Amino acid sequence: MYSMLSLNDMQENVLQRAMQFSDESLAPEASERDRHESFADEHLKAMGRAGLLGVNVSQEYGGLGAGVVAYAVGVRALAQGCAGTTVAMMVTNMVAEAIEKFGSEAHKQKYLGELCSGIWPAAGFCLSEPGSGSDAASMRATAIEEQHNGESVYRLNGTKAWVTSGGEAGVYLVTAKTNPAAGSRGVSAFLIETGTAGFRSAPPEKKVGLRTSKTTQMILEDCLLDESHLLGEEGRGFSVMMNALDGGRIGVSAQAVGVADAALQLMRRQYDLRQDQELGRLIAQSQAERDAAWLLCLRAATLKDQGQPLTQQASMSKVYCTEMAGRVCQRAVRGLGAIGHHSSCEAERLMRDVRVMRIYEGTSEIQRFVIAREELKKLRSGR
Ligand code: CAA
Repeated sequence: MYSMLSLNDMQENVLQRAMQFSDESLAPEASERDRHESFADEHLKAMGRAGLLGVNVSQEYGGLGAGVVAYAVGVRALAQGCAGTTVAMMVTNMVAEAIEKFGSEAHKQKYLGELCSGIWPAAGFCLSEPGSGSDAASMRATAIEEQHNGESVYRLNGTKAWVTSGGEAGVYLVTAKTNPAAGSRGVSAFLIETGTAGFRSAPPEKKVGLRTSKTTQMILEDCLLDESHLLGEEGRGFSVMMNALDGGRIGVSAQAVGVADAALQLMRRQYDLRQDQELGRLIAQSQAERDAAWLLCLRAATLKDQGQPLTQQASMSKVYCTEMAGRVCQRAVRGLGAIGHHSSCEAERLMRDVRVMRIYEGTSEIQRFVIAREELKKLRSGR
């Protein structure tokens, strides 16, 4: 446990890069960007140049090869400055990792350099649909094989929803059913570049929080793709996405802890001014919960770095970190009094930003379902 608390040189290096970028570039503009709902295209490209878009991608393919703990400390520091821009960075890292893990050599050569360097500002992850969120396997999008000009192609139709960086990403990881009768085993994963005929974004969604992150539907209308676009085997796309989400949930955990850190910082400043006993109590409770949450996040990240199973630990981390951050942001608003409730106060933005973290990449209810299901597996296998 103690070894999880000290960082190696590479992890420390990522932390320093992320803290510097967060303090100098993200934090000063975060409120303004939130007000204007502006996507931080140039910041994401700069993050790429700083190596932060492929933290856990091998150096051979343009990443830092720094591992998952390094990724978590980096996300935490960036989210303390601006959680909205950080979610685009997180989804890019998640898709890049999936390409390295499941992609062909041609995929890695074609996409990872562009993503990790920030030539493309982001990648997109298209799993949910307007009619399927938590029950992801019930998706309706199809990818039906047919002959076209004498060649075998997939014809994709459907609508993917809640896509982070929709319309801005360079490449999207998209699921559709190649065999609609086969449930989750009929789902395949495709890599689709921006500008591909039959693939377009809808207008941005109006959201309560994370307004610097652009979220759209992505529409597939007779989009024709040959098999070189398949990521992993046909029919194995659901596992590709679930595997990616295990890692993604570590990222959301770290993001939530970063937002809690920002809220705690506001409370500490106010405490310094007021020395109010009630505020001290709120800080004490929040700091203890924040540290417990961070240890859960580090445990999941360490397991992933070690190549061990982490599904249950990633879900425990996500549910605890995101719910903790929600409580801490509420306490910041309460502790700051009327000003905390004013739109000019950073606490108000943090409270709005943190809400969706209990929803995206699997709701709290889904995390509890996954945790309970893993417990059942242990019981049945006598572990
Ligand atoms: N890793 C790898 N494979 C996995 C896996 C994991 N963690 N979990 C399940 N699988 C595999 C299973 O082994 C199984 O494979 P086989 O067919 O070979 O047996 C297959 O996937 C189906 O598994 P389940 O039977 O467990 O699937 P299910 O239908 O019961 O689903 C669920 C379970 C956990 C509820 C899943 O649907 C889920 O996680 N739902 C939430 C979806 C989610 O997080 N959506 C967020 C989308 S992203 C987003 O928010 C926007 C963005 O831009 C970031």
